Amino acid sequence: MKRIGILTSGGDCPGMNAAIRSAVRTALYEGMEPYGIYSGYKGLIEGIIEPLASKDVANSIHKGGTFLRSARSLEFKTEEGQKKAVENAAKFGIEGFVVIGGDGSLTGAKALSDKYGLKVVGLPGSIDNDMYGTDMSIGVDTALNTIVNCIDMINDTASSHDRTFLIEVMGRNSGYLAMTAAVSVGAEAVIIPEVPYSLESIISKIKVRYMEGKSRSIVIVAEGAGSAYDFGKAFSLIGGFETRITVLGHLQRGGSPTHFDRILATRLGMAAVQKLKAGESGVMIGLQNTQVVSTPFEQVLSTKKTLPQNLLDMVEILH
Ligand code: ADP
Ligand code: F6P
Repeated sequence: MKRIGILTSGGDCPGMNAAIRSAVRTALYEGMEPYGIYSGYKGLIEGIIEPLASKDVANSIHKGGTFLRSARSLEFKTEEGQKKAVENAAKFGIEGFVVIGGDGSLTGAKALSDKYGLKVVGLPGSIDNDMYGTDMSIGVDTALNTIVNCIDMINDTASSHDRTFLIEVMGRNSGYLAMTAAVSVGAEAVIIPEVPYSLESIISKIKVRYMEGKSRSIVIVAEGAGSAYDFGKAFSLIGGFETRITVLGHLQRGGSPTHFDRILATRLGMAAVQKLKAGESGVMIGLQNTQVVSTPFEQVLSTKKTLPQNLLDMVEILH
């Protein structure tokens, strides 16, 4: 395999640039020709494809976002769009692909591999950490550090004013970010889509805390469980506490990647190119028990990633 195309797709995340850099420089080391496909599948359909030299990825390992840009392409979900993409791959002589993105992006990667016989390797890039086949996706550690820093700051005001704060975090349908953040900041409760909750019992718990003289309460809400504004109304109506809401939003997706994300992205980016060179295709490369491993797209996309039960228990025991 001589020429490979690299693209980032779906929601961006910190560490994508580090993964691209690693894939580009590994490809050059292996005597291959790396090409950048701009704006995800949109760029593949429109032919926005350019060769990448070593200097093109210089000074990028520490930058958030993705310099290849990302997009959500509805056209790529259609047969017509996919055919245009495959035609462009042939036109540019691209024989293998590294696709970095979330489960939607890897569903697209699976289509390229299964339906059109292209050689494709995927990397998990999404702050949600909802993909089976890897303990951690690229970007999760950075997002969590950002969330924890923000909540620590909110905590100062919550404590000074004896307030209850409901803080909404991202994660789409997954409660991973919420649950992990809750343990890291010592939250009183967490509301996530995977586990049934009772607002009444959370409110009673907070009442007891105030009676015990504890100054503040933090409740983390995963966006997939509902709106922190809606929960907040119930908290002030039923509980009668002074309640404030913060929705952290897209600041969770930006910023310089942490050391962990840089290493993870670098390891996975290098492995992706080496696996393509060795003839592997139709797989996602992930990290399991500190080892880099491949899992078929079929398994990645059809298996639900479960939340670590021990973290859930910790919130209950330690509040
Ligand atoms: P993420 O990769 O972060 O989950 P999306 O779900 O928006 O983000 O998917 C990113 C892109 O992947 C979509 O815009 C589309 O181009 C492609 N994609 C998603 N689902 C499919 C599908 N079922 N078939 C083909 N391509 C898909
Ligand atoms: O998948 C990453 C993510 O940030 C989710 O946590 C969130 O639900 C979604 O993307 C937001 O998407 P957008 O940036 O299109 O608003």
